[in-house]
Amino acid sequence: MQKILFCEGKFFYVRDATQDYHCQFGVIRKDDLKKKDGSVVSTNTGKELSLFTPFFSDRFRKLKRVPQLIPLKDVGLIIAETGIGKESVVLDAGTGAGSLSIFLSNIVKKVVTYEIRDDFRKVAEQNLKEMDIKNVALKKGSIYEEIKDKNFDLVTLDVPEPWLAVPNLIRALKPGGYIVAYSPQITQVQSFMKEVIKHKELELIKTSEIMERLWRVEDLIVRPKQQPIVHSGFLTFLRKVRA
Ligand SMILES: C[S@@+](CC[C@H](N)C(=O)[O-])C[C@H]1O[C@@H](n2cnc3c(N)ncnc32)[C@H](O)[C@@H]1O
Repeated sequence: MQKILFCEGKFFYVRDATQDYHCQFGVIRKDDLKKKDGSVVSTNTGKELSLFTPFFSDRFRKLKRVPQLIPLKDVGLIIAETGIGKESVVLDAGTGAGSLSIFLSNIVKKVVTYEIRDDFRKVAEQNLKEMDIKNVALKKGSIYEEIKDKNFDLVTLDVPEPWLAVPNLIRALKPGGYIVAYSPQITQVQSFMKEVIKHKELELIKTSEIMERLWRVEDLIVRPKQQPIVHSGFLTFLRKVRA
């Protein structure tokens, strides 16, 4: 059983709520961790914390991350732009620690994901287990080589040379299906598009970059936070418009 404790702007993730939990505010007894969601519990020093069951987002934030993962702002655009839902089947490559696959699995029917590296596949496997996810098929192999799976609604690509996967992906997608390539460098987008234009089956929808700016909103201070806007990657959306 897992729980979240909250106090003074801090969230504490209790991995094992059958044991007493120690944090900077003191000790919360295991009997208190059994109380219903929304309860206020006290530490041995009398500090009050609120208690609730973790959401998907809380559990996701606790996962092990190995390679660079797609930020949530970009995951949001992929989901909204392609309109995938509970009937959709998605192909995701490369898996990395599985962040994108895990997010997509929470809203679609099935995710098939390919990763070439054994060490990353192992981390992804642990993360899927940790999240109790059963609708992700984690496969060993390169997305640049022929893949047997077919009829996908969406293919997401986060690999160094996405252009090498294009012929395979055309075969794997159903008509109307989307490809979304996530590329940190614009030169990757250029090389990808150089390949894409050779294939009449594919139509470019758009290439975009999402900038997220955080704001400070406290009493009289209402302005953007003093932090740089960081570049993550470019998202290129394509559709398969003919068989
Ligand atoms: C940036 S990471 C992916 C992160 C992932 N999208 C996430 O959100 O956690 C890129 C991954 O692609 C894998 N990779 C590279 N080339 C590949 C290929 N040809 N086929 C499958 N996976 C590949 C790498 O080993 C690495 O784990």
